Formats: sequence, C-alpha cells, structure tokens
Amino acid sequence: MFKDKKVVFSGVQPSGVLTIGNYLGAIKNFKTFSDEYYCLYCVVNEHAITVRQNPAELRKRTYETLALYMACGLDPEKNTLFVQSHVPAHTELGWILDCYTMFGELSRMTQFKDKSAKNADNINAGLFTYPSLMAADILLYQTELVPVGVDQKQHLELTRNIAERFNQVYGETFVVPEGYIPQTTAKIMSLSEPTKKMSKSDENENAVVRILDSKDAIIRKFKRAVTDSGNEIRRGEGKDGIMNLMSIYGAFTGKTEEEIEREFDGKGYGDFKMAVGEACADALAPVQAEFTRLAADKAYLESVMEKGADEASRLAARTMSKVRRKLGFVELGRK
Ligand code: TYM
Repeated sequence: MFKDKKVVFSGVQPSGVLTIGNYLGAIKNFKTFSDEYYCLYCVVNEHAITVRQNPAELRKRTYETLALYMACGLDPEKNTLFVQSHVPAHTELGWILDCYTMFGELSRMTQFKDKSAKNADNINAGLFTYPSLMAADILLYQTELVPVGVDQKQHLELTRNIAERFNQVYGETFVVPEGYIPQTTAKIMSLSEPTKKMSKSDENENAVVRILDSKDAIIRKFKRAVTDSGNEIRRGEGKDGIMNLMSIYGAFTGKTEEEIEREFDGKGYGDFKMAVGEACADALAPVQAEFTRLAADKAYLESVMEKGADEASRLAARTMSKVRRKLGFVELGRK
C-alpha cells in the first residue's frame, strides 16, 4: 500500500503495434482505476527480448507504447507510467524469484509452450523464466490488482503461488495479488482464425486490427473477417467469428449482446461487419489523434519516462530492502 491506496500494476510488451485485443482486454480499463488506486503501468521491454527484436524497432515501440498509454487516457500525473529497464529492481527481484519458482511450474506454462513452438530456433532460458520476471514486476509494488486479458491468467496464478511460497518461508513479505479480467473482452480473437487469440505478433495482417490502423484498413479487415456459412447475427455453436465481432461491437458501442442481436435481426453479415468496422474506427479516431500529437514530442515522452522511473524506483526500493533483509543479504548503509 502506497500513499494509503491499494496498488494496481499492469504491463504491455512493446513487441509490435498494439491491437484492439490489447486495447479492449487491458489498456482501455486501466484508467478506471486511477482515482481509487495507486496505479503503475509499465512498458515491459525486458520481457520483449525473450523473442529476438530489432533494436531500432524496440526503441521506437517503447516510445510508442508509452504514447499509446497516454492517448488511451492515462494521465502521467495520476498514474506512474514507466519503462521496465529503467528500474533495475525488476531483474534483481526476477532472479531472486527464479530461485522460488519450480522447473515443473514453468514447464506447464502454455505461453512458453506456444512461443517455443513459434520460435523453435530460439528457445532461450529467458523465455522459460519469463513468468518469474512477471511475478517480480507485480510483487515489487505490493500490487493488489492486475488488470489483464485472460491469456495472462496462468501467469497470475503462478505469481500468487510464488508470493505465497516466499511468504511461507520468510513471513509476510509480498501482497498476494488478484487478477482483474474483463467479462466480454478478455479474449479478442483473430479475424482470420476466430478460435485463436488476436496477437500483435501475428504475421497475417488481416487477422489483426491495430489501434493505429487507418479507418479504411479497419473496415477492410472487418469486411474480410472469417465468419460461418450461416446468416444470422446471434450467439451459438460454431459461430466463433460472429461472437467475436459481437464482443468487439459491444465493447465499442456499449450495447449488450441482446441489443446487438435485436439491432441486426433480419440483416446480413455484410451490414454487420460494416457496422463493426465503423464503430471501431470511430472509437479509435480520438486515440489516434492524441497518439500522433504525443508521439511527435520525444522530449516530453522522455520526461514522463524519467518521472515514472523515479517514482517506481522509490517504491521498488522499499520492497527490495525488505526482501534482501529477509534473505540474509548484507546491506550496506551507503546509497
Ligand atoms: P502482452 O503485451 O501480450 O499484452 C498486453 C495486455 O493485452 C492483453 N491481451 C489481450 N486481451 C484480450 N484479447 C486479446 N486478444 C489480447 N491480447 C493481449 C494481455 O492479456 C495483456 O493484459 N506478460 C504480459 C506483459 C506483462 C505483464 C506484467 C502484465 C509483463 N509483466 C505484469 C501484467 C502484469 C504480456 O505478454 O502482455
């Protein structure tokens, strides 16, 4: 607890241009916590290098992800916005937690299995221990609540297990966090394969709607979205594509599934896809305008990064001092 408020922490990897999955599953919800909680939102660039990155691209996307946080409504005065590599305590605690995370636990992580299959020539140790670094991100700030999409649920469970294990050995050290997973948008699906998660690293551009896509591109992608051989806009078996479009449309318009079914009763898939594209493009237009303005001002973004790094480092130092003491690491008086 900092400044008498409970802590919210979440992170996004700057490993690609963010998608409407990242937006609806996570970032859009971040600002709802800003008044009640002490919120830290991190650009997790250290996680991103578990997969090979082009350095110039990684640098550019780090600025862009921060700009997108702000364009999505996160005020740097009300939230601590920062970059993971600016706070070395993340990797320090990450190593410590590696020693309290079991090989068997890490072997069961589905994200590790998926990413190993996709990067068969680079199954590195970082990819394997990724979840302990993620646990460090969260536990470092005594986080109570972690807003994420459903794909992160397994990592969160592991974080809780690590925290409980450490607390059991050393006495109360970490707050055991809870996930905050949205109801209808926890897993936005690929537009090309609606049984698969929409992923920012997908090579098929038609599968992914990016927050920064132009209105034309957004409408074109929705028009091509894979659906089914039927013609009714309603929920049901084998209608993954339509149900995915319904969640997206609902999230951008605030309409319930029943309202959507009623609105499109008797209409065809073409009309519905057009409406989803329009609603998505219209909702993203102000975010895009704000992003363009912010991304042009690198000096300002760097000042936000600096302020965020200072705030986060201060808070991280408190936990680290406690952890080192409990472990039996000798601490020197000097700073
Ligand atoms: P990342 O960068 O893959 O995704 C960022 C956030 O977006 C959510 N998300 C989705 N939600 C709904 N539908 C989708 N198709 C979709 N795709 C992604 C993710 O669940 C996530 O909330 N390991 C994390 C980053 C991380 C982190 C943390 C998160 C590192 N440390 C500590 C929370 C707390 C990741 O790879 O997210």
